[in-house]
Amino acid sequence: MFARYRKSSAAEPARTAVSAEAAVAPPTAAPARSPLATLKPAQQPAASSAQAVAADKEKKRKDRLGELKVELHKRLLENLNLSALEHAAEADLRSEIADISNEALAELSVVLNKEDRSQLYQELYDEVMGLGPIEPLLKDDTVNDILINGPHQIFIERAGKLTLSDITFKDEKHLLRIIDKIVSAVGRRVDESNPYVDARLQDGSRFNAMVPPVAVDGSLVSIRKFKKDKLKIEDLVRFGAFTEEMAAYLQAAVATRLNIIVSGGTGSGKTTTLNALSSFIDDSERILTIEDTAELQLQQTHVGRMESRPANVEGKGAVTQRDCLRNALRMRPDRIIVGETRGEEVIDMLQAMNTGHDGSMTTIHANNARDGISRLENMVAMAGIEMPLKAVRAQIASAVNLIVQASRLQDGSRRMTSITEITGMEGEVISMQEIFRYERLGIAPDGKIIGRFNATGVRSAYSDRFKQWGYDLPASIYEPLP
Ligand SMILES: Nc1ncnc2c1ncn2[C@@H]1O[C@H](COP(=O)(O)OP(=O)(O)OP(=O)(O)O)[C@@H](O)[C@H]1O
Ligand SMILES: [Mg+2]
Repeated sequence: MFARYRKSSAAEPARTAVSAEAAVAPPTAAPARSPLATLKPAQQPAASSAQAVAADKEKKRKDRLGELKVELHKRLLENLNLSALEHAAEADLRSEIADISNEALAELSVVLNKEDRSQLYQELYDEVMGLGPIEPLLKDDTVNDILINGPHQIFIERAGKLTLSDITFKDEKHLLRIIDKIVSAVGRRVDESNPYVDARLQDGSRFNAMVPPVAVDGSLVSIRKFKKDKLKIEDLVRFGAFTEEMAAYLQAAVATRLNIIVSGGTGSGKTTTLNALSSFIDDSERILTIEDTAELQLQQTHVGRMESRPANVEGKGAVTQRDCLRNALRMRPDRIIVGETRGEEVIDMLQAMNTGHDGSMTTIHANNARDGISRLENMVAMAGIEMPLKAVRAQIASAVNLIVQASRLQDGSRRMTSITEITGMEGEVISMQEIFRYERLGIAPDGKIIGRFNATGVRSAYSDRFKQWGYDLPASIYEPLP
């Protein structure tokens, strides 16, 4: 029954051949011998303390399993019919892997305890079907980000905290093989001449890799895990990202079609915020989303999703966010959402916001609202538009109504640190007023930041608009705490 996934007719003879060869002479692959060597019992470590002995033992155990894994993996690749694997039932494949491994272990005269054995099988399964050592991290829903700096350093982010994990790749070659597996699955290539690549994993996670020699100490990989259950407004309020009052204000702002920019640093929660804000859009509206990597998950019925595409290996076929945006304007959208504005598409985004696509939203990379405006100005300048600065500012001032600042604080918590309205121009300068802000009051002994959200005392310039649309927010939400 399991032989289905072995290489067809040649499978049995091939395996016999391997065993026969092994019987005559030691296998050519060096690692096959070392597990045997290290398996010899009674190798007493010279370390003095019991702890050091235990650590040494654990390391040896890991090394031995690692070496065995390499050898067994090699045999699996020789013996499994890889093209049949795609359709393999998981249980069948697992027993097949166990079968082939058991034979190999017997051949190598290796005896493993039950725990080591099942760990080995799991790792082999992950190697064959998944992404090797990082497969468990991808499956672990509590992990948000996986950051790999060369084969021996894998950092993971859980609940806002980055920590070094004890997971490693065997060597750079192993890491490269997994990178290659990922990018070739999406029809891309990464090598010395194309040293970096952006891709989306099957489960929707965002993936970026850069390989040597540009990556000096081994390949650099960053993975932003895709969350099936995106954080909702209620979750964000519960986690203390913002208050219920701020949520009520944001609901009014989105529902009454203000143009909103979510600003923030890397990993500050921009996309999450944008996604949560979109839940306030009425279900009857036609929304078009444009992203470099499709991450947004809108709840509405009428959503058209677009994803830009980089050029292929020959440098052809690129479809930029700007191309998508221009096309989107011909697709009769009620609202346009651009995942992140980072280049020339800023021109079309501002134009769209100024010409009847009210209620459009995007994110930008900036540290505060003022900085966000400068970023927009810079992007316009970089796009090669020859326009006096004052005119650019006037465009921005009339296009953007609201800047929402997302921040990741030192303690790892993510908060909406400011909500700022753009009210127009005063001379050459864009005028703004902050409505809500996060006030830092200190740091607790455990490193947690102590603070509170507060209103600035400024009433929204849009309160009349909110009221007309039926969002009559009580004046009290604008009153600062004592
Ligand atoms: N308020 C929050 N509380 C807890 N986790 C959050 C919060 N906001 C965002 N996250 C988590 O933080 C991670 C980063 O969030 P997100 O992708 O929204 O950031 P980003 O600013 O868009 O990042 P990038 O700059 O890489 O695009 C995600 O895994 C997300 O689920
Ligand atoms: Mg993002």
